[in-house]
Amino acid sequence: MGVAMRNRETAAGWAYHDATKHSFQSVRHNAHFLDWPNKPLPFKIYTTLDRIELPREVPPLDMPALEAISSGEWGAGSGEWGAEEKTIFPTPSLKDLAQILYYSAGITKIKNYSGGEIMFRAASCTGALYEIELYLVCGDLSGPEAGPEADLEAGVYHFSPHDFSLRRLRADDYRGVIGRATAGESSVIHAPVMIICTGVYWRNAWKYQARTYRHFGWDNGTMLANLLATATALNLPARVVMGFVDEDVNRLLNLDTDREVAFSMVSLGRTSAPSPEAPAEIEQLVLETEPLSPSEVDYPAMREMHAASSLDDEDEVRQWRGAMPEPKNPPPQGQLIPLKPLGADRMSREGIGSVILKRGSTRRFARGGSVSFEQFSTLLYRSMQDIPADFLDAGAPHLNELYLIVHAVDGLQPGAYALDRDKWAIELIKAGEFRKEAGYLGLEQALPAAAAATIFFVADLNAIFERFGNRGYRAAQLESGIIGGKMYLAAYAQGFGATGLTFYDDDVIEFFSPRAQGKSAVFHIAIGKSAKRGMEVISG
Ligand SMILES: Cc1cc2nc3c(=O)[nH]c(=O)nc-3n(C[C@H](O)[C@H](O)[C@H](O)COP(=O)(O)O)c2cc1C
Repeated sequence: MGVAMRNRETAAGWAYHDATKHSFQSVRHNAHFLDWPNKPLPFKIYTTLDRIELPREVPPLDMPALEAISSGEWGAGSGEWGAEEKTIFPTPSLKDLAQILYYSAGITKIKNYSGGEIMFRAASCTGALYEIELYLVCGDLSGPEAGPEADLEAGVYHFSPHDFSLRRLRADDYRGVIGRATAGESSVIHAPVMIICTGVYWRNAWKYQARTYRHFGWDNGTMLANLLATATALNLPARVVMGFVDEDVNRLLNLDTDREVAFSMVSLGRTSAPSPEAPAEIEQLVLETEPLSPSEVDYPAMREMHAASSLDDEDEVRQWRGAMPEPKNPPPQGQLIPLKPLGADRMSREGIGSVILKRGSTRRFARGGSVSFEQFSTLLYRSMQDIPADFLDAGAPHLNELYLIVHAVDGLQPGAYALDRDKWAIELIKAGEFRKEAGYLGLEQALPAAAAATIFFVADLNAIFERFGNRGYRAAQLESGIIGGKMYLAAYAQGFGATGLTFYDDDVIEFFSPRAQGKSAVFHIAIGKSAKRGMEVISG
C-alpha cells in the first residue's frame, strides 16, 4: 500500500470531473476570453542545449493505415516479454525514431492566417495549442547500418518539433529509473527506448482553463494513435504505460511540476538485455527554456487532480496495473445490426505515412454527404481493436463505450445506437433524425449536425474509479484520445473526414439514457464527407 494512497480518494477525481463539465449554462456564464497578446508559444525551447538534428530523409511508411491502426500483434500480448522469446530483438535506429517522432508530433503543414502562422502537427490537438511534449530515455542505439559508433548515445532527450531535433538533458543510461518507477513493467525493462509524454498546463489552459487536464488525455491519445500505428508499420513493439511513480519520472525529466507533468509513456522496441541499474541520485539540472507567454495563469484544480491521481511508490504501481473487470451490461434491448467491415482485399490500402500527412480536422461537412455502412463499420471495427496498454489486457474491456448518432450512413436507419464490442454489432437505441440534437450536444456547433455520424465516448467512471482510483480518470481520457486518433486515420484512409469535438457533458448522457444512465461523457468525434474547403476556423 502506498503511504498516502491519495489515488484512492476518489472524491477528488469526481470533484475535478464535475467542476470541468460544460453545460448550456456554464458556457454562457464563463467570462473567459482569449488574451491574444498572451497566447503561449506552442513549443518548449531549451535555449542552452546543443541541437542534434534528426534525419529528414526517411522512407515512406507503406503499411496500409487501416492495418497499422488495428494490429495488436506486437504489443497487445500479456505483457510478458519473457526470456523464452525466440523472436528477433528489434531496436529502433535513429531513422526509426525520426519517423516515429515525425508522424506522431512533427510539423506536417504550415498555414497562414490573418492572426499569423499556425504550424499544424501530425496528430489533432484541441485548439492547435500542442501542449504535449515528448522525451526519450534510451540506452545506446545503433541501427543495422550504423558503424561502430552508436546512432544515438544513451541519455535523456527532449524532442523539438520546431527544428526537428533532439536535445540532450542527461548523458548516461537512465532506463533503470523508468524500470523502477514502473515497478519492473516487463515491456519497460526490456525496452531500448522509452518515449515519455508530458502535458504543459498553461499552453492549453490559456484557452480551455481547468478543462485542460482532460485535454491532456485527448491530445496525448491522438498522438499515441499515430505513434502506435507508426511503430507497427516499422515492426517495432510498443506498449502504452500509465502506471508509474510520478515523482521519479518527473524528476528524471527535470520538470517544474507546477507547470508540466508526465502523463503517459510508451516502451518501444525490445532487447534481450534488461536495462542497467538506475543511478542512485538524479541530479537537479538548471536548464533555461523560452518563456511561453508574458504571464501565465495557474489553475489549481488541475494540479490538485494531478496530485490526487499520482502513484507514490512501486507497490501502488504494481496494484494499479491490470485490466477492468467485465462490465455487467444489461442484455441488448433494441435491434442488433452486425457490422460489415471491409475485408483486407476490399478496404483502402493507402499507406499510414500518406494518411497521416493528409489528415486534418474537417472544418465543414458536406450536408447530405453519406458514407457507406461498410466504411462506417470498417472505421468502428478497426479503431476499436485491442490497444497494447498496461491498463488493458488483451481481450479486456475498453474503458470507453461508443454511442452513435447516425445521420447519413447508407443502409442504416438514422438514429441513436450503441456499439456492442463483444458482438461487433450496433444496437438501435432510438430511431429518428437527430441532427439538431447532435449539433446541440456538440456545444451548439454545426459540425456534428452536418456530419454523416457523430460518435460519443461514454465511460462508467464509478467502475473506473473503483478499479483504478483517480488514475483511472487519466487512463479513460487517454484511451478515448487513442481511439479517436485511430478514427481520424480510419476516416482519412477511406477518403472522408473527421473532427474531434467538445460536448455538453450531462446532456449527452441524458440523450442516450436510460441506457447511458449513471455513466459519464468522455470524448466526441464526428465523421463524414468534407465540404469544399471554405473559411477555416480554429476552435475547440
Ligand atoms: C479532442 C478534440 C476536440 C476538438 N474539439 C473541437 C471543437 O469542439 N470544435 C472544432 O471546431 N474543432 C475541434 N477540434 C479540432 C482541433 O481544432 C484541431 O485538431 C486543431 O485545430 C488542429 O488541426 P488539425 O486537426 O487539422 O491538424 C478538436 C480536436 C480534438 C483532438
